Amino acid sequence: MIIGRPFLTTEQIHEKVIELADRISKDYAGKEILAIGILKGSFMFFADLIRALKTTVTLDFIIAASYLKTTSTGEVKIHYDIREDVKGKHVLLIDDIIDTGISLNYIRERILSKSPASLKVCAFLDKKERREVDVPMDYIGFEIPNQFFVGYGLDYDNNYRNLPYIAVFKKET
Ligand code: IMP
Ligand code: MG
Repeated sequence: MIIGRPFLTTEQIHEKVIELADRISKDYAGKEILAIGILKGSFMFFADLIRALKTTVTLDFIIAASYLKTTSTGEVKIHYDIREDVKGKHVLLIDDIIDTGISLNYIRERILSKSPASLKVCAFLDKKERREVDVPMDYIGFEIPNQFFVGYGLDYDNNYRNLPYIAVFKKET
């Protein structure tokens, strides 16, 4: 396995998180945010982002995994569901990366069906080229090329999540 040099350094990540948090804090001024993190990938971004928010925050998590990723009808399985009552809340859904959009779309629709006061979606990385389902995105950190990335929460087979930077992952041939 080869982990390349940082594609996004710790410093670049930090700057972007602060920029996103400032925008979100302004947009939600005077409101309380229910931040919902999609695990496991978003744990690091989630923690950094909500720490930098200047608004009142309550939080919850959802664990989801999508299968049959190569088809647009990919099935999404919920392993842990939101426990907080979403009704009437300003929900901010937070994910590490949007790829095909299948998982995020499924989770978004699921939350919308529970009548939140509002719902916005934030992803740190956007692999736009790979999109199969159109998901309305409100906050994006970086648009990235169609390669496989690890670090800052992102994994390959549950490894490398703890890297403090984001790198392209290549399998040795
Ligand atoms: P999708 O948008 O439903 O295709 O799935 C997005 C999920 O796939 C993300 O939340 C990640 O867990 C995973 N994923 C997509 N691209 C990458 C990558 O480059 N590295 C690590 N995980 C990825
Ligand atoms: Mg994920």
